[in-house]
Amino acid sequence: MLTVVLLNTFSVCRYPLGMTGGQIQDEDISASSQWSESTAARYGRLDFDDGDGAWCPDVMAEPNNLKEFLQIDLHTLHFVTLVGTQGRHADGVGNEFAQRYKVKYSRDGTRWVSWRDRQGRQIIEGNSNAYDVVLKDLEPPIIARFVRFMPVTDPSMIVCMRVELYGCEWLDGLVTYSAPAGQQMSFRGQQIYLNDTVYDGAISYSMTEGLGQLTDGSWGLDDFTKSQVYGVWPGYDYVGWINSSFPGGSVEMTFEFDRVRNFTSMKVHCNNMYTWGVKMFRQAVCYFRTDSDWEPNPVVFKPKADNISPSARFVTVALGNRMASAIRCRFAFNDIWMMFSEIAFQSDTAVYNTSLVPRDDPSHKIDDSSTRILIGCLVAIIVILLAIIIIILWRQVWQKMIEKASQRMLDDELTTCLSVQREAFTHRHSSLSSDVESNSTYERIFPMGSDYQEPSLLLRKLPEFQATENLVGLVTRRSRVRVSGPAGIAPHYAEADIVSQQEATGAHSYRVTVVNMPLSPGRDGALEEFPRERLTFKEKLGEGQFGEVHLCEAEGMQEFMKDHCGDISDEPMLVAVKTLREDANKNARNDFLKEIRIISRLRDPNIIRLLAVCVESDPLCMITEYMENGDLNQFLSRHELQEEGVLAGNSSTISYRILIRMASQISSGMKYLSSLHFVHRDLATRNCLVGTNNTIKIADFGMSRNLYRGDYYRIQGRAVLPIRWMSWESILLGKFTMASDVWAFGVTLWEILTLCKEQPYAQFTDEQVIENTGEFFRDQNKQVYLPKPHCCPDSVYSLMLSCWKRNAKERPTFLEIHSTLMEYHD
Ligand code: ADE
Repeated sequence: MLTVVLLNTFSVCRYPLGMTGGQIQDEDISASSQWSESTAARYGRLDFDDGDGAWCPDVMAEPNNLKEFLQIDLHTLHFVTLVGTQGRHADGVGNEFAQRYKVKYSRDGTRWVSWRDRQGRQIIEGNSNAYDVVLKDLEPPIIARFVRFMPVTDPSMIVCMRVELYGCEWLDGLVTYSAPAGQQMSFRGQQIYLNDTVYDGAISYSMTEGLGQLTDGSWGLDDFTKSQVYGVWPGYDYVGWINSSFPGGSVEMTFEFDRVRNFTSMKVHCNNMYTWGVKMFRQAVCYFRTDSDWEPNPVVFKPKADNISPSARFVTVALGNRMASAIRCRFAFNDIWMMFSEIAFQSDTAVYNTSLVPRDDPSHKIDDSSTRILIGCLVAIIVILLAIIIIILWRQVWQKMIEKASQRMLDDELTTCLSVQREAFTHRHSSLSSDVESNSTYERIFPMGSDYQEPSLLLRKLPEFQATENLVGLVTRRSRVRVSGPAGIAPHYAEADIVSQQEATGAHSYRVTVVNMPLSPGRDGALEEFPRERLTFKEKLGEGQFGEVHLCEAEGMQEFMKDHCGDISDEPMLVAVKTLREDANKNARNDFLKEIRIISRLRDPNIIRLLAVCVESDPLCMITEYMENGDLNQFLSRHELQEEGVLAGNSSTISYRILIRMASQISSGMKYLSSLHFVHRDLATRNCLVGTNNTIKIADFGMSRNLYRGDYYRIQGRAVLPIRWMSWESILLGKFTMASDVWAFGVTLWEILTLCKEQPYAQFTDEQVIENTGEFFRDQNKQVYLPKPHCCPDSVYSLMLSCWKRNAKERPTFLEIHSTLMEYHD
């Protein structure tokens, strides 16, 4: 295919040759040495982060030693106009780069030439940091198959490089030209240097076996004393000869090619300042050689003489489709001087189709590789769209399935509810007290109001959950079904509570528990009515939405604690009295009574003990044991960690060992609750009390204290959630189980080991905490865990982390947690 020679090769031939784009194969990238396998030559691709992020040679032995190089084999001759370099960044891990480097090149792999700029300087200023790409125009450009980058650095520095070459294939196939050396002209008092400044072969009287200005892609101006290149000497663009030096009246030039080609033309850019004694050649006689011998019949070409226009121009010499691997032309003088600035050949395989040559700078990368990238992007977009469509369809199917399942469960539950009501009714009439005794399972009464479990608002924030909303809505709507007994039997409390529970399968099931229990004084040892006039108010311990907690002296309390093997003195006893505000609404009142009913069943050294109640008249009161040191959160925040090896003594410090013992006591209390299948739902240091000798008892103040309002997240002023302690499934699915208590225990353990100095996820807003919960659900390693407290050994932190496992079944049980912590403090 015949094509036209491009205009200025240098400006159009600037596209990446394939270090970044991958057209250059790994095996064509080699190096003098490598620092390690992961910094081998193949990692020297610009903009790539593979391996350790760059090619790094072995230690540079001597200053400015040029032994080390990264070599690229382009396989065919290329016109290289630009180089790009980058250091080793490796996502911030690396910081090695070459501040300076040299370029060497070769066309045959044996004769290597050092690149020099037009002023003869070899060193190229490289990178000043490890990440920016620095591009350098190679002026003059090089024509080569092999290119070497050679870092020039202080030996103390480790250098690493990533590189790219820019240019285009050298389709002329010209490997060398030989010609008489260019000469010097005295013109109007100035010297005009017409030598081939950038010739890369041998130069003496003649130039042999090199390429230079005649193939550098830039051509001279009409006025040969001037140049397009800044800062060069007069005559720079031209190679010129004076007629008088050549007795034969002609200059002979030999052109060697990479292989035998079918030549159509040769274009010679000539100066024609005829008024200054410079004219284009009069005649060109060209001989051809395919193997060793020159063919006798030359092509003779005589351009039309032009004594009118002084313009420099390309003169096209038709070569008549002659086959050759070398061409020798004799250019006959037509005046005193003859000057050429560029010579180009067109042959059958020379495809300098300008439409194929990208015109943009490499930074724009409108080239082969960008087309590939573009296609890749389009394919990726199509794939993403398809994936989105599939996900949407899948979610629709899933939603339908859930709707069906919900419907089925609703039906089941309605049936159950009806039978429960019937059962409750029967129970109440048949055995008012014994049914409670027979029922060893307790549900947690959540003191924060019946709207507590309203996760759907949170779920709506997370798109994944929109599909489950029906199900969750169903759970929350049905989770507190109250069945009132007939009027007239007072005081009494009957309720069917449907609690979502985690089954072995991990799926939701609904357990229906009937608690039908009278709160009559004397009927149950734990629920004795205490004469309220025997209580003397001492101080307020806390205050909340629905009531207050007071420290009181109770006279004769010992009688009420028959099974309590404490002191049996007659002294008034200090107790904590929680009262319900008289104007509290019905729900709060019911919850208060329910809490009494539940706490009264609990007997464990690490659970706060209900001593008596005052429920016959308002305000309702529950009397619990008093813990001298208040709640664990305040207690710890008053303390600092005792340094290891320092003996105890300072009352404001606390040892790590005691902290673990405290956590262990909480886990023991929780172990007890879990043995009763009792889900606490609000385990936190604020809900644990500290007595003498660092004894800990789990309590639940609910929102009875305004102090911890910030620990609860209010959804539109209705539900109040301790989100920072809640497992992802409690927040998103409204699912409270023993395993979600374990999650909260993990957070409580974290609080203890940070001595409650800050709120969990203090840096997150409530909304961010919920977003993070979504990440726990998605489990794409984007979830943020509470960090390891300073004093926390790895083993304890891994216990903490195990409490926050996404899969609830993988979390440890309280039994396991307790025995682990026992080991740690023993
Ligand atoms: N409720 C609030 N503070 C208390 C304490 N110190 N002891 C018992 N119950 C409490």
